[in-house]
Amino acid sequence: MSWFTKFLSSSIGQKVIMSLTGIFLMLFLIVHLLGNLQLLKDDGGEAFNTYAFFMTHNPVIKTISYSLYAFILWHAIQGILLWRKNKAAAGNSRYAVSHIRTEERSSRNMAWFGIVIFVFLVLHLWQFWLQMKLGALPPVEVEAYSHPVQNLYLPVAEAFLNPLYVLFYVFCMVVVGLHLWHGFWSSFQTLGINHPRYNPLIKTIGYLYAVGVPAGFALIPLWMYFVR
Ligand code: HEM
Repeated sequence: MSWFTKFLSSSIGQKVIMSLTGIFLMLFLIVHLLGNLQLLKDDGGEAFNTYAFFMTHNPVIKTISYSLYAFILWHAIQGILLWRKNKAAAGNSRYAVSHIRTEERSSRNMAWFGIVIFVFLVLHLWQFWLQMKLGALPPVEVEAYSHPVQNLYLPVAEAFLNPLYVLFYVFCMVVVGLHLWHGFWSSFQTLGINHPRYNPLIKTIGYLYAVGVPAGFALIPLWMYFVR
């Protein structure tokens, strides 16, 4: 076994993978939110459809998207393996020291939040992304292109006419927030990015991120249902 595979299968190696893939996913969420905020414009989906066409046809962004799918799976599988490892470590000793118990509790909560997010993602991708990938959406003209593009705005606007979808999205965004509340800080800790002078700043940015990003996503279905 090379030192690299040894590292990847060690506890610390697994945590580093969780942190790096997690940071990549957190960056994706910012870009995804900024793009989706185009849905709030009262322009019949012109800006959103233009943005969606660009994002799905630009070769660099397409390549990054493939890494994204791989990282989502890697993060999920690694998370479940770590959870099982922590559970076994806490279970092995009836008198496990309190930090092992705390770590086990936190990894169990993170795993449950992660499972809810994974289920959300499967439904979410099936609902919007897959329809687009299959080319199943009706064409629409946009000013930026001389050819019609897929009307991705349509399934999103239709979904958020349904109060059950709105509730489901808002609930899932609360869970995303809870996952990020611990995940942001923890990923920096694992990578050793921790200094008494900067820790309060990292924590504050983490908490602002964990509240602000899911709140921004939750605003979209609420806005489309109540305001549009
Ligand atoms: C109101 C909230 C959201 C809306 C309206 C929304 C909308 C969409 C739409 C229309 C697509 C297909 C077009 C595209 O690829 O960009 C998409 C893709 C995607 N969404 Fe969302 N999304 C929301 C929240 C989220 C959240 C919270 C996550 C992650 C936890 C997420 C993860 C993804 C992923 C991974 C893709 C595939 C991206 C790609 O192929 O590059 N979305 N979303």
